[in-house]
Amino acid sequence: TWTTHNVVDEQIALIKAQVGTKRAICGLSGGVDSAVAAALVQKAIGSQLTCVYVDHGLMRQGETEQVEKDFVAATGVKLKVVDAQERFLSALKGVSDPEEKRKIIGREFIRVFEQAQAEIVAEAGEHGESVDFLVQGTLYPDVVESGGGTGTANIKSHHNVGGLPEDLQFQLVEPLRKLFKDEVRMVGQELGLPEEIVQRQPFPGPGLGIRIVGEVTKERLDLLREADAIAREELTAAGLDREIWQCPVVLLADVRSVGVQGDGRTYGHPIVLRPVSSEDAMTADWSRLPYEVLAKISTRITNEVRDVNRVVLDVTSKPPGTIEWE
Ligand code: XMP
Repeated sequence: TWTTHNVVDEQIALIKAQVGTKRAICGLSGGVDSAVAAALVQKAIGSQLTCVYVDHGLMRQGETEQVEKDFVAATGVKLKVVDAQERFLSALKGVSDPEEKRKIIGREFIRVFEQAQAEIVAEAGEHGESVDFLVQGTLYPDVVESGGGTGTANIKSHHNVGGLPEDLQFQLVEPLRKLFKDEVRMVGQELGLPEEIVQRQPFPGPGLGIRIVGEVTKERLDLLREADAIAREELTAAGLDREIWQCPVVLLADVRSVGVQGDGRTYGHPIVLRPVSSEDAMTADWSRLPYEVLAKISTRITNEVRDVNRVVLDVTSKPPGTIEWE
């Protein structure tokens, strides 16, 4: 029978058998999936695991600090933080197509992991075991939507499945591959991870890179980060965090509309709010948020974020719309 206890025991045995005395790295994104995968693998192989947090510059406000502080405090895991902002930004330069963005981000993640792998080996000296394994928090829905690793996305290439390069040097360890999000949360609880991590709303590995419709630039990222921080702050203040599954905040960077602010004409960008409720992200419905909360978010974003003169609400279920815009 399915119990989280059994899943944990079974996965620990499988991970031990797979990794043996070799070493592994695990990409941490700050989200639930990678945190639970890392905690599970750490339980199985202890200090043979090093976690790698890639700061790709596509993160939301405060995210990097949170991983550095909370996750390490909760697990005592070995953590390597890599500043890869320049690398990701230049790889994404001039790219607007969503699938292309996803593939580039997936590829750059792996390049950074390879670099980390080389550094860990060098630090350990000649007697260190090689780093052969890459741990990923891939879930069942990621596999399904990415076309099961067939190379052709059914819906979109999740960065850690369909977005992997063909010449991948790592063997993958994916202990959550058969699980849905609510099951992953239960496993995290069983492993003793704190509520702040286990109950976090989902956030995609490619981060804000797939929430800018159009080319990703530093300036646009900064702008979106500000809008996103306001939306999150207000949703939290209204006590809605547990009620909604997640709320992507999207910048329509290639769209402009006319506005009036102060006594002048503006020609700025719209921000889309995409609050959804869901059980497993395979289907979703748009959240009926209180008008007062929406009004507050809209007023603050248009007042505080330069170049944004319009806030719109996405009232599409999934299907037909996916949760993310790209
Ligand atoms: P969609 O947009 O496919 O999203 O309805 C379903 C869920 O998956 C998240 N998502 C991703 N997570 N890498 C991830 O780690 C990705 O490439 C990716 N794409 C979407 C999305 O935020 C939602 O929770």
